[in-house]
Amino acid sequence: LPRVFSGIQPTAGSFQLGNYLGALRQWVALQETAEAFYCVVDLHAITMDWDPEELRQNSLTSAAQLLALGVDPARSTLFVQSHVPEHLQLSWVLECVARFGEASRMTQFKDKSQREGADGSSVGLFTYPVLMAADILLYQTDQVPVGDDQRQHLELTRDVATRFNNRFGPTFTVPSVFIPEAGARVMDLQTPEKKMSKSLPPAGCVFLLDDPKVSAKKIRSAVTDTGREVVADAANKPGVTNLLTIHSALSGRSIPELEQHFAGRGYGDLKKELAEVVTEFVSPVRARTQELLDDPAELERVLAGGAERAREVAAATVADVYERTGFLAPG
Ligand code: TYM
Repeated sequence: LPRVFSGIQPTAGSFQLGNYLGALRQWVALQETAEAFYCVVDLHAITMDWDPEELRQNSLTSAAQLLALGVDPARSTLFVQSHVPEHLQLSWVLECVARFGEASRMTQFKDKSQREGADGSSVGLFTYPVLMAADILLYQTDQVPVGDDQRQHLELTRDVATRFNNRFGPTFTVPSVFIPEAGARVMDLQTPEKKMSKSLPPAGCVFLLDDPKVSAKKIRSAVTDTGREVVADAANKPGVTNLLTIHSALSGRSIPELEQHFAGRGYGDLKKELAEVVTEFVSPVRARTQELLDDPAELERVLAGGAERAREVAAATVADVYERTGFLAPG
């Protein structure tokens, strides 16, 4: 079976629709055909200012949401990154293989360091993509299901893996990125030129754990475009195209089919129907997440089992890496 690895940050507590359509939907589907490792990447969540109690709660809420969305711990390994110290052990070695120049070219660092400036940003924000490479390479991963915004980080991962293999011998599987055809870049509802993200004002972002009434309202208030026809045209109608993409991904109906369905009707009808589709999707996820959080002992048991399984694989990779790179074996 091919190996799949992916991770998600627990930063916001609730995931948003972009996370689901760009990545998590593929996580669930790939369990059928691959051996999957799925990780709540809490170590990645402290590169910018954070609150310790919130982080702890958000990690648990994130794990609960993953189960509610269909990650099945009987088939896949679900764990929290900080429970597997090998991520940090490999990360240091890879930091000494990755080049300062290649890390400097990461557009996410450029974006995220804008507010504090490079001088005022944490060193962790800069080395973040190398920790991500370690996450992936520890598990000899074949495929990494992610949204479009992670493409550059995957390129870095492949470059670092290849350089390491050339220098120290075949150690890592060089992973491929797995980006969905539809939903790889869900756009903000208020600013459809930007990707949906928790860091933009909340009116444009549908959080899975929000009251479904709030989400329905956000959809009905989405910015649309001039014109009246409900047709997909990313260049000229980014707002409408985004709504059609979300509809298609959640309802399973193709875009041409939806264009037909809305022929002769206006944007208002599209938004009204999409609000219903979104409500139907988020309501059970929200309820199931709450149920799981009501019994954290069970959740913690799942995560402990996941960490144990993850460590078996991760420890073997680190042992191989330490041997190849010349560290003295402990007595
Ligand atoms: P994160 O936590 O920001 O996002 C999790 C996943 O959601 C995808 N995504 C989107 N997809 C489509 N449209 C959007 N608007 C949208 N917003 C987010 C992301 O592409 C991602 O797949 N660096 C990663 C976490 C990570 C990781 C890893 C991923 C750490 N280690 C190893 C894969 C493998 C991140 O910050 O994702």
